[in-house]
Amino acid sequence: LQYLREDQHQTGTKEGCAEGDCGACTVVIGELVGDEGNEELRLRAINACIQFLPALDGKALFTIEDLERNDGSLHPVQQALVQQHGSQCGFCTPGFAMSLWALYENEPVCPERDEVEHALSGNLCRCTGYRPIVEANQEAYALPRQSLTRQPIITALKQLRKLPPLDYQGAGQRSHSPHTLAELAELRETLPDARLVAGGTDVGLWVTKQGRDLGEIIQLGAVSELKTLQLGAERLEIGAGVSLTDAFVALTAFEPQWAELARRFASVPIKNAGTMGGNVANGSPIGDSMPALIALGSRVVLQKGMATREMALEDFYLGYQKTALQAGEFVRSLILEAPKAPLQRIFRSYKVAKRTDQDISAV
Ligand code: FES
Ligand code: FES
Repeated sequence: LQYLREDQHQTGTKEGCAEGDCGACTVVIGELVGDEGNEELRLRAINACIQFLPALDGKALFTIEDLERNDGSLHPVQQALVQQHGSQCGFCTPGFAMSLWALYENEPVCPERDEVEHALSGNLCRCTGYRPIVEANQEAYALPRQSLTRQPIITALKQLRKLPPLDYQGAGQRSHSPHTLAELAELRETLPDARLVAGGTDVGLWVTKQGRDLGEIIQLGAVSELKTLQLGAERLEIGAGVSLTDAFVALTAFEPQWAELARRFASVPIKNAGTMGGNVANGSPIGDSMPALIALGSRVVLQKGMATREMALEDFYLGYQKTALQAGEFVRSLILEAPKAPLQRIFRSYKVAKRTDQDISAV
């Protein structure tokens, strides 16, 4: 966010909370997904305030400035916000527009109200009230469709894929972005004290709120082997780098009672950025997934060099923010297995908090 506003002078993206809670800084990230030859562009809203610049390596970034057309006219989601009076002071509006744009691009047909509300779960508005904003979404779909031209972006991202891993330095800090599991394993052993960063949804706040210097960083976002998901009837394995958004879809398919937690676990932009491995490895007391994962008897796979070991997630936590990870080791994946006889297990998961969306659990 600082880079956008202070270096690029793209001040449409705002800062409200600087902790991923208000959505004023919402931008959209474009990433290549799919096998070689069948690549597609995946667009997802994230919070710029807690993203580190090197995390953009190999990705496309869209900000509110990108919604304007060459002739200066507004995008349908912006036009609809105007027509529905979805903005008063306007501070939150670019963030809402970007969340609505991500939804507009990802859903060719106007989604149900519940889905719109979920897409806006990370955007706060202090003055307008949410009804006109939600209705602006319906209105945007009623206006002539204006979709992003994707092919040139896909071509550009494919070119970026061919570049060597990013080794980025700035302000006395250094960031490594390994591309493969082998590169990561080697780096991790050589730099056991470097901070591993995946989505940055927890670590980002150490910087924005506590002013901490993270020192040397290893970014995990480009390691494709960490992003694999294997979903079968008997077993689910979630790579440590799988986003919470994708992990929750798989978890809900594997164990339908996961649905409420998936819906209420943070906002959409946080789930898009954060990873299951980060949630587990950081062991933050507000990382809601662990009680449910432990209840399901999940196991965690750890890797050091090319050797792996597996343990019950319950045994992974040794104390407050203390884990069994050894120097040079990292979380590789998480494994869930179906009970041998299905009736042996009854699983329920609820979240009790003061707000429906974007709140820390009380229980
Ligand atoms: Fe509030 Fe980023 S400034 S979410
Ligand atoms: Fe003022 Fe939303 S219009 S905060």
